[in-house]
Amino acid sequence: MHEATLESGTETRKLHVITWGCQMNVYDSARMTDVLRPLGYSPVDEVEDADMVILNTCHIRERAAEKVFSELGRLRKISDARTALGHDRTVIAVAGCVAQAEGEEILARAPYVDIVLGPQTYHRLPEMVARAARAGGSVIDTDFPAETKFDFLPDAAAPQTDGNLTAFLTIQEGCDKFCSFCVVPYTRGAETSRPVVSVLAEARRMVESGVREITLLGQNVNAYHGDDGDGGSETLAGLAAKLAAIPGLIRIRYMTSHPRDVDQSLIDAHRDNAAMMPFLHLPVQSGSDRILKAMNRGHTADEYRDVVRRLREARPDLALSSDFIVGHPGETEQDFEATMQLIRDVGFAQAFSFKYSPRPGTPAAGQPFQVDETVKDARLHRLQALLREQQDAFNADMVGRVMPVLFTGRGRKPGQMTGRSPYLQPVHVDGSDDLIGQTVPVLITQRLTNSLGGTLQRERACA
Ligand code: SAH
Ligand code: SF4
Ligand code: F3S
Repeated sequence: MHEATLESGTETRKLHVITWGCQMNVYDSARMTDVLRPLGYSPVDEVEDADMVILNTCHIRERAAEKVFSELGRLRKISDARTALGHDRTVIAVAGCVAQAEGEEILARAPYVDIVLGPQTYHRLPEMVARAARAGGSVIDTDFPAETKFDFLPDAAAPQTDGNLTAFLTIQEGCDKFCSFCVVPYTRGAETSRPVVSVLAEARRMVESGVREITLLGQNVNAYHGDDGDGGSETLAGLAAKLAAIPGLIRIRYMTSHPRDVDQSLIDAHRDNAAMMPFLHLPVQSGSDRILKAMNRGHTADEYRDVVRRLREARPDLALSSDFIVGHPGETEQDFEATMQLIRDVGFAQAFSFKYSPRPGTPAAGQPFQVDETVKDARLHRLQALLREQQDAFNADMVGRVMPVLFTGRGRKPGQMTGRSPYLQPVHVDGSDDLIGQTVPVLITQRLTNSLGGTLQRERACA
C-alpha cells in the first residue's frame, strides 16, 4: 500500500476540471486539484488529454441534472475515443451540488461514472481514486462528515486566476436560512465557519505567493463566526481587520452577504478598514414585503433600504450589486412593481437576475400560485432593462474619475496592461510589465463595451 502510494506519486497523470456554479465551486475545484497533486495529477486545459476529469456541478437553477447528464454523455464519448487510440479510459468524477443532491441517480443513469463526491468530502478524493481503481466499480461519498475537509487539505499550492494576484478563500460554508426557493441548505449542509487561524494561515500563504486581493467566500459570508482561538468567536469585520494587517494584502472583498447579517461592526469596517473594497454584493431577491416573507428572507424591503443607507453613510463611494428572482410563487404585478421601485430607490452598479425555478424538495416548489412562464419572461425582461440602464449609467459615471487599479496582466493589444478597479471593472492603460502586481491611480478616460480605458497617474498617491 505504502509503495503503491509512492509509486503513484512519481507518475504524471493529467487532470481536467470543469467548473459550473458559484465562486465557491471555483475555490473547491482549485482545492480538489491541490488534493490530487501528491498523487501525480497535474492540471491540463484540454479535456481530450486528461486521464481524469472532474465535473464540478451546480444545482441552483433549472435543468441542473439534465445538463450534467448531457455533459457526462460528451465525456463518455471522449473517453471512448481515447481507448480506441490505446489509452486508458478517462476516470470520470462528478462533484459539487448536483452530486450531493442526486448522487445515486447519477450512478444509476450513468454507471460509467467512477466517483461521485459531495462538496464536503473532497479531502477524501485520493482514497476514492484508489478505491475506484481497485474495485473497478463506482465510488460514492456524499456524507456530511464530522471532520472538516479544511483540516485535511494540503496547503494550497498555487491560488488560481489572474496570474495569482487575486484569489478566492472560503471562510464559511453552508446555510441554515432555508429560503423557500433555495437548494443550498440541502446541498452544502449546515452553516459552519473556519477558525481564524486556519483562514489567516491560508491567506498568508496566498500573499506569499503573490496574491494582492482576496475574496472571502461563503454562502452567507457575513454570518461568519469562526473560532478566535481564545474561547470566543470572531466576526467578519474582526477577521477582515486581521487580514488587512498581513503585509502585501491590499484588497479584501467578501461574498455572498445576507442583508440580515450586516451588523454595525461590518458597516464600521467599510469606513475604517482601507483594504475593504467599496463594492458589495448584497442580494435582495425582491422588493415586495409579501414576497420577501414568502421567501423566508427575514427582512422587509425598507430594512434593506436602511442597511444600504447606513453602508453608504459609512462609505459614500460604496457601490452595490444584487440578485433578483422574478416570478416566485404568489408574485403579483404589484409585487413585481415593488421590486422595480426598490431598484430605482437603491441604484445598482451590477446585478444578476433570474426567473424563479422550482427546485425539487424546496418549500416553494410545492406552493400554489406558481407564476406563468410567459409572465416570468416579461418581468425578467423589464427588470433586466432597468438594471442594464443603471449599470451603464454607473460605468459612464467612471469617466473623469481617478481610481486605484490593481494591475494583473497584459492587455490584448501590444503595450497595453490590464487591471481591475475597486468595482471589479477591467481597466486598460498603456504601460509595461512592471505594473503587474502594483496598485496605481488611473484617470478613467473612456468607457468601452465591457471595460474602461484610462491613463496612469503615477504621481498621485494611491487610495
Ligand atoms: N446566499 C445567497 C444566494 C446564493 S444562491 C443569498 O442568500 O442571497 C445565488 C442566487 O441564485 C440567489 O441569490 C438567487 O437569486 C438565485 N436563486 C437561488 N435559487 C433559485 C431558484 N430556485 N430560482 C431562481 N433563482 C434562484
Ligand atoms: Fe439559499 Fe437563502 Fe441560504 Fe442564500 S440565505 S444560500 S438564498 S437558503
Ligand atoms: Fe450552485 Fe452549489 Fe454554488 S448549487 S451556486 S454550486 S453552492
